[in-house]
Amino acid sequence: MNYQEALTKGTKILKSNKIKSFILDSEILLASSLKLDRSRLLLNLNNNIKKNQKEIFFNFINRRKKNEPVAYILGFKEFWKNNFKINKSVLIPRPDTEILVDQVLKEIKKNETKQILDIGTGSGCIILSVLNERKNSFGYGIDISKKAINLAKNNAKIQHISNRIKFLHSNIDNYYFGKYDLIVSNPPYIKLSDISVLDKDIKFFEPNLALNGGVDGFSKIRKVIKKSSILIKKKGKLILEIGFNQEINTKNILKKNGFYINRIVKDFSGINRCIVSTKL
Ligand SMILES: C[S@@+](CC[C@H](N)C(=O)[O-])C[C@H]1O[C@@H](n2cnc3c(N)ncnc32)[C@H](O)[C@@H]1O
Repeated sequence: MNYQEALTKGTKILKSNKIKSFILDSEILLASSLKLDRSRLLLNLNNNIKKNQKEIFFNFINRRKKNEPVAYILGFKEFWKNNFKINKSVLIPRPDTEILVDQVLKEIKKNETKQILDIGTGSGCIILSVLNERKNSFGYGIDISKKAINLAKNNAKIQHISNRIKFLHSNIDNYYFGKYDLIVSNPPYIKLSDISVLDKDIKFFEPNLALNGGVDGFSKIRKVIKKSSILIKKKGKLILEIGFNQEINTKNILKKNGFYINRIVKDFSGINRCIVSTKL
């Protein structure tokens, strides 16, 4: 069997199992099984696939056909300028979340020394991306999931920034440590009743802890804002990711907790996705 034949078979299996991105996913999974770049795979479609590579590829295809996301199958996801190790205990980093990194970087000059807290750090993708760009700053990442914290620590080690970051296993409710120049958070913000209508890739594989925003979708947003108003320095910035239609309520919660709204930033689909605010 050559690469082209393997691809055709993999694509057919995914298509018949209603995987929308069946061509791209087959190509990515085959390239990974062969330890090749996708472009190199596509340039060598007549090469023969070895027995063990074929086994790996069709094992990947079998997982993908049951809706397991490609990122969990491969065990990593590209975010900002790095690959992050991921597993089923953390949310797969999303391109929209890179907007938060961009907004944090706008608030911290290249050589400034700032103390930054990331609430609900997951894989550590936000805070590690920021620290990679701001070499004099220090980060703290907290998460209620012990497994997420272990993974974030591993990502810090891989990226050689363990000396400027502390990852702590803690519920935001019990966290009272330090005062920060900037707090960033992508909290769980999906309404409980909306979780069952999410894509299968998400609802059956990504951790409920990372998605579930409670009955109205605001339970974690509220906690993050209330606690941030205690943990943040005066004039410190709070940068939050929010979901579709959550802008007005979030702005109200921020104002009630002593924050001034600086700006709202839209995501790539034109949805209000990020709120930048300042503690008065
Ligand atoms: C939407 S995910 C964001 C993960 C990562 N920051 C990202 O942007 O990809 C939310 C994270 O918040 C964590 N979390 C949920 N409730 C929490 C709580 N009460 N205290 C601390 N972390 C919490 C979850 O475990 C999850 O890792």
